[in-house]
Amino acid sequence: MVDNYAVFGNPIAHSKSPRIHTLFGEQTGGAVEYGAICSEPEEFAQDAMMFLVAGGKGCNVTVPYKQEAWELADELSDYAARAKAVNTLAFSEDGTMVGYNTDGIGIVRDLQQNHSIALQGKRILLLGAGGAVRGVLQPLLEAQPASLFIANRTASKALELAQDFAEFGKVSGGGFADIDGQFDLIINGTAASLQGELPPLPAGCLAADGCTYDMMYSAKPTAFVAWGRAQGAAQSLDGLGMLVEQAAEAFFIWRGVRPSTAPVLAQLREELSRQ
Ligand code: ATR
Repeated sequence: MVDNYAVFGNPIAHSKSPRIHTLFGEQTGGAVEYGAICSEPEEFAQDAMMFLVAGGKGCNVTVPYKQEAWELADELSDYAARAKAVNTLAFSEDGTMVGYNTDGIGIVRDLQQNHSIALQGKRILLLGAGGAVRGVLQPLLEAQPASLFIANRTASKALELAQDFAEFGKVSGGGFADIDGQFDLIINGTAASLQGELPPLPAGCLAADGCTYDMMYSAKPTAFVAWGRAQGAAQSLDGLGMLVEQAAEAFFIWRGVRPSTAPVLAQLREELSRQ
């Protein structure tokens, strides 16, 4: 018996999730089949239901359907409820869909465990205020940074997010022009990297020994990763590790087995460099 999973999104052709979960399946000795499904606008919910009815055990959800998955889920994890976004749906025997958001766990694990970047007591600057940032805020704040400032092109969105998550820690928000002082960790959650652009950051905002992290990744260093290097960051990382870690958490939710991420990340990095 093969257990079926899939990732839903649009576009989806370049998703690395099928590769990652196939490697996890091989590693843990389970019979795992993982596909990629491109849902047309307005059709995600129906597609996900059909996948469940056909015997699917669960699915991942990516852009642009994370919010629709949040609406679709019968039950929500704490992180998913707060994020108002679901990237992992687990299907129960009785047809119940439980929604999770593993993105925040993914970035925190990549930072702390894979790269030994402590978050507790640190000053964090988080760039962007869209879905990607909303999805990671609670786990980041639960790691107890000294402060977290959300800076966004549209300042009002950053202020709203800071208000929404105020109960989890010392979080504030504003526009890029409001960035003040120095930060131990600067995380880029804007879509600017996709366009090869860089958010406008003031000179000297990265502290000595500070690190930079782009939630995006690409074969060549993203504009933000290159910026971090130019600023002399102790480590300037992209989001491939976050992708693998959020996938590992989803795999664990579905199968109760925690795959080892390091070999999968190394393999993916190698494959990416050959693209
Ligand atoms: P995602 O789900 O990837 O977060 P999103 O919800 O559309 O996508 O949010 C995109 C984020 O990237 C927003 O914070 C957006 O800023 P605005 O809220 O002002 O639109 C930000 N963004 C997109 N392109 C950008 C650019 N060229 N420079 C700076 N920020 C950019």
